[in-house]
Amino acid sequence: MTSINEQPIPAARPVIGEDEIEAAVRVLRSGRVVQGPEVAAFEEGFSRLVDDRHCVAVNSGTSALHLLLLALGIGPGDEVIVPSFSFAASANAVRLVGADVVFADIEPGSFGLDPAAVEAAITPRTAAIMPVHLYGHPAAMDKLMPIADKHKLAVVEDACQAHAAALNGTPVGAFGAGGTFSFYPTKNMHSLEGGMVTTADAELARTLRLLRNQGMEQRYANEIVGANMRMTDVSAAVGRVQLGKVEAWTELRRANAAYLDAHITAPAVTTPPVAEGARHVYHQYTVRISGDRDAAMAKLTEAGIGNAVYYPTPIHRLKPYWEPDQKAGRTWDLPETERAAAEVVSLPVHPSLTEGDLQRIAAAVNSLGENL
Ligand SMILES: Cc1ncc(COP(=O)(O)O)c(C=O)c1O
Repeated sequence: MTSINEQPIPAARPVIGEDEIEAAVRVLRSGRVVQGPEVAAFEEGFSRLVDDRHCVAVNSGTSALHLLLLALGIGPGDEVIVPSFSFAASANAVRLVGADVVFADIEPGSFGLDPAAVEAAITPRTAAIMPVHLYGHPAAMDKLMPIADKHKLAVVEDACQAHAAALNGTPVGAFGAGGTFSFYPTKNMHSLEGGMVTTADAELARTLRLLRNQGMEQRYANEIVGANMRMTDVSAAVGRVQLGKVEAWTELRRANAAYLDAHITAPAVTTPPVAEGARHVYHQYTVRISGDRDAAMAKLTEAGIGNAVYYPTPIHRLKPYWEPDQKAGRTWDLPETERAAAEVVSLPVHPSLTEGDLQRIAAAVNSLGENL
């Protein structure tokens, strides 16, 4: 039970502080509110997080994925290999460009695409692989990139949950043909809503800039068919404030995770492993629970500990994917995906946790005991 003095600890706590508010008001007063100097400065600043790659700001992480697939020329007739254990946006972007989603299983430790499963899923129609750096842990890019190179496939990184994560010193978003980030309010840094595409290819960056703005570089001189996926300067100004804080916040997340790793001892609970060479940025601190997960979550909620399952239903079981597969008699063999969906629970790890909060989280988890 939560005692009278103990406030519930939320699963996430987005920051909209005085700095963010001042930046937004400054832009509103300036009158330059859409894709102006703030967006350019945000793109310039964000490129420091991705080994100085070109950065193209858009209005959401979903738009970032969508535009990147379009810019790479991926469309009808192509297949893209995607993990089913992700947010639906990863697969939705593939379907939005008219390509087919091919699901591959995940590694149990990183929750990212299993390289052997990816290799087995490649067909003559495969155009791209989409590793998702889920929860802020980098996917096995050291093994996935050579597979992509061998088969001449594009790699589209979904780094929407993984700002400043890295593998063997290379930041996510700097491995593939392109990377994508989300700045939704609960992410490790946000811009109210927003997204970023990153790429080392200047031509691709230009195509992305055209696509987000009706195909125009010069006003009314449309070069290609495009959309309106522009970021506002208000968003970019908020994003710039958060960009200045994300490194310190990341270190706090990592320290909070280290505390929980050291203090969670309940035998039915497995703390998140970190692959060798990986910099996990703990967008989520996700444990596995063996036993009755619903009962465990109810007990945590009763103790005032925010908790959530990301994601209870793998994408291949969601209606827009499940029904066409049923019709076509197509099934997927994804045992680790199914197991993860049944076992995971994310606990609070956000930078505003106090030492007292961390003690309460560990104590509540440990009091779940052995037999759930
Ligand atoms: C893995 C993943 N991909 C894509 C997205 C889409 O980002 P957005 O919500 O900014 O469109 C999200 C964010 O929720 C995500 O977690």
